[in-house]
Amino acid sequence: MIRTAFAIVAVGAVIAACAPERQVSGRALYAEFCVSCHGTSGKGDGPAAAALGKAPADLTGIATRNGGQFPMAEVMSTIDGYTRRGDRSSVMPELGTVLQEGPLVMVDTGDGIATPTPANLVALANHLRTLQK
Ligand code: HEC
Repeated sequence: MIRTAFAIVAVGAVIAACAPERQVSGRALYAEFCVSCHGTSGKGDGPAAAALGKAPADLTGIATRNGGQFPMAEVMSTIDGYTRRGDRSSVMPELGTVLQEGPLVMVDTGDGIATPTPANLVALANHLRTLQK
């Protein structure tokens, strides 16, 4: 009984210790997981881009393509949704597990409803917002 309680406390401590490490800035996440294809600027000119069968999207034009508004909810589900969709024509890798790690934050993407969303995903989408031309 005491041993079980100790194990639970220990696991809790490990989770608590890991969580902050995993929650990094959107810029750092982008540098780690997106730059190879989309490039530092987001224009789709990363070092791996030429080797892809399909050009990586120009991420600096997301708002322009959407009538000047950065579609936060759509961008987050685009990044995240790639993991679940099983679309074989999509070249983008599955990033869901990385993005799901770390804490959740409540986000209202404009519909007035706050939804628990992985903080890493929000940070990444916010970074993309800063790349808009
Ligand atoms: C292996 C190369 C590759 C990597 C790595 C990659 N992408 Fe992509 N991305 C693409 C390609 C290619 C497309 C065009 C659509 C498709 O084939 O999936 C795309 C499309 C997108 C789109 C849709 C843009 C639009 O306007 O339609 C977004 C948003 C996006 N990527 C964000 C990201 C983010 C954020 C990361 C890092 C977490 C990332 N991508 C990592 C190759 C990549």
